[in-house]
Amino acid sequence: MKLQKVLPRIHGYLSNLSTSTPLCYTTRLQHDKINVNEHRAKIMARGLPEKKPLPGVKKIILVASGKGGVGKTTTAVNLACAMKVIEPNKEIGLLDADVFGPSVPIMMNISGEPMLNDNHLIEPLINYGVKCMSMGLLVAGENAVVWRGLMVMQALERLTRHVAWGPLDCLVVDTPPGTGDTHLSLAQNLPIDGAIVVTTPQSAALQVTKRGLNMFEKLNVPIIGLVENMSHAICKNCGTRNFIFGNETKQMAEQMGLEIIESFEVDPDMSECINSGKPAIYALPDSIHAEKYRHLANKVFKYLSSKDQKEAIAK
Ligand SMILES: Nc1ncnc2c1ncn2[C@@H]1O[C@H](COP(=O)(O)OP(=O)(O)OP(=O)(O)O)[C@@H](O)[C@H]1O
Ligand SMILES: [Mg+2]
Repeated sequence: MKLQKVLPRIHGYLSNLSTSTPLCYTTRLQHDKINVNEHRAKIMARGLPEKKPLPGVKKIILVASGKGGVGKTTTAVNLACAMKVIEPNKEIGLLDADVFGPSVPIMMNISGEPMLNDNHLIEPLINYGVKCMSMGLLVAGENAVVWRGLMVMQALERLTRHVAWGPLDCLVVDTPPGTGDTHLSLAQNLPIDGAIVVTTPQSAALQVTKRGLNMFEKLNVPIIGLVENMSHAICKNCGTRNFIFGNETKQMAEQMGLEIIESFEVDPDMSECINSGKPAIYALPDSIHAEKYRHLANKVFKYLSSKDQKEAIAK
């Protein structure tokens, strides 16, 4: 297969994106002239955009939370790696859909310029047996991405449909904090099989998590279950469990009818591993964390196969 460098093309693409604002403006001016009701009726008749599968990708799951900094990327990275560990013959992918703050390249220890293949698709970079793609690989160095909603959607389109993902048994998608354009765009354009929602146990975080859960309900994305992260800290000297952030996740899960699949304590080893590009599942395979991530991965596989069975019966 002939590969060529992708960055010059991406830079061309990004500069095209920056010209889209005047285009929108022109369109708005034209709209002002036509009958508003007629225009609204036309838009409503369109309905939701058609969800098109990604070629060669069997399943897609999201890792999400309304709240920032709760451990979404840590969970997504360890989950994708754990899925590969427990089912080595399955092909697993990891898409970093956080175009503003991509952290998958650091956490998966991937760098370097992705290449374009003969079909002009970007080849994902592979580490720990997982195929990865991130805006962090396509925008040089520490350059900040300052885009509006439409540009974010176009960037997501590029990261999903312009990448040679297939063949994949499952694509794990790490999402940014919030309930914004990215989630809407992913849920409206891709057939999402389910979402893992990550939360921490503070009541403020749980409120925001609830907002995220409600968004998925509206978008018809099924929730696989909750991951409670930073649930407590264990004193290294006496082993006491300290619930420093409170302990309200169970109550919220019961209210929402959801299962807490796993709870992870605050652990400096976990942080050190993930921030140095060695997910706990590989760096500390005998640790309780690695065991919990393998359990989470098992749960996801079971969920996906039972979803398949239910769909087959319904046909
Ligand atoms: N259980 C844990 N124990 C200790 N540190 C953790 C744990 N989980 C995550 N961290 C650390 O917390 C920080 C934030 O984690 P992470 O980047 O995964 O959160 P996020 O929800 O993806 O953040 P963002 O909303 O910015 O995308 C990271 O430095 C990570 O190492
Ligand atoms: Mg993140």
